[in-house]
Amino acid sequence: MPRWMRWTGYAVGTVVLLAGAAVGYVYAASTHKANKRYDIPATPITIVHDSATIARGRHFATAIGKCVECHGDDLGGKVLVDDPALGIVIPPNITNGGLLPSYSDAELVRVIRQGIKRDGRSAIVMPSDDYQYLTDEDVGAIVAYLRTVPAVTRDPGPTRLRLVGRTLVATNLVPLYAAERTSRTYRAPAHLEPDTSLTYGAYLANTGGCTGCHGPGLGGGPIPGMPPEAAPAANLTPTGIGHLSDAQLERILRSGERPDGSTLKPDMPWRYTALMSDLEMRATIKYLRSVPAKAYGTR
Ligand code: HEC
Ligand code: HEC
Repeated sequence: MPRWMRWTGYAVGTVVLLAGAAVGYVYAASTHKANKRYDIPATPITIVHDSATIARGRHFATAIGKCVECHGDDLGGKVLVDDPALGIVIPPNITNGGLLPSYSDAELVRVIRQGIKRDGRSAIVMPSDDYQYLTDEDVGAIVAYLRTVPAVTRDPGPTRLRLVGRTLVATNLVPLYAAERTSRTYRAPAHLEPDTSLTYGAYLANTGGCTGCHGPGLGGGPIPGMPPEAAPAANLTPTGIGHLSDAQLERILRSGERPDGSTLKPDMPWRYTALMSDLEMRATIKYLRSVPAKAYGTR
């Protein structure tokens, strides 16, 4: 065998070995992360189970927290992402026919606000970084409502990350695990008065995922962790929406239709923002008007 052929053989062999080692590392590191336990107690809060609270919980789970967007309109779970590189992400069945009966009220509060599942491992993708701001009253209302949702017996199957998804996890490029995105020191208030104050507007923008998708400063851009084909979020600061009137903004949020007649992509959950009350709509728009201008893409 000529010497150059032997050297090429060594070089190819080395590359294959290194690639194999890298894949091995990615699988080991991502599995380790998935199994990490968070030793944080599920502290009980007072939960009222009357009909007004259940109605508020249903409203929050739909129009504000949008649990239904990921867990399905019947909360029975559905395939959210199925991407050949990232993997398949399946928000589970959280009705009485699925995981709900295994969870205590306090454990539900912990998984919603901190992203920590019953067994102490982190939930993946779940936007607990938005929900950590939920008041005791509102997270309690969501729990009270979940207990009343009709049982769905469907099993949509488990989430399975593939190589690119696992690489994002192993390299910390995108914090896919909810428990890594939540504060260990923030303590949400017990109650907030629903009004049109900026405080309440900010509360709705945070718990409603506007900041989660459009970015903490609402500057918009690609949403971290979403597949490349997903639509980037729009700029919601004055740079992006300053030219729209309150009425035009409300129309976008209620019908998904822009003033030029184009329709928003389903990546923007306008089917659910459509269900906000008038007061919530006014508070949210007032808050959007209050944030400093930012360039598109700066989140
Ligand atoms: C952006 C999508 C998304 C939204 C919105 C969302 N979830 Fe989830 N949720 C998930 C995913 C994905 C999982 C599975 C996590 C896992 O398997 O690690 C999950 C897990 C859960 C679990 C724990 C189930 C288990 O595996 O033990 C509960 C309970 C839950 N979600 C409730 C809610 C509630 C209540 C809301 C609304 C306040 C909500 N979720 C909103 C994606 C979402
Ligand atoms: C799950 C992610 C997600 C959430 C949550 C979300 N948005 Fe969006 N939003 C998007 C995406 C993506 C677009 C771009 C849609 C398109 O290109 O058609 C968008 C577009 C918009 C637009 C249109 C802007 C324009 O100039 O065309 C407005 C207004 C808007 N969002 C407001 C909000 C508000 C207010 C909230 C919170 C109540 C919110 N969004 C929550 C993802 C999200």
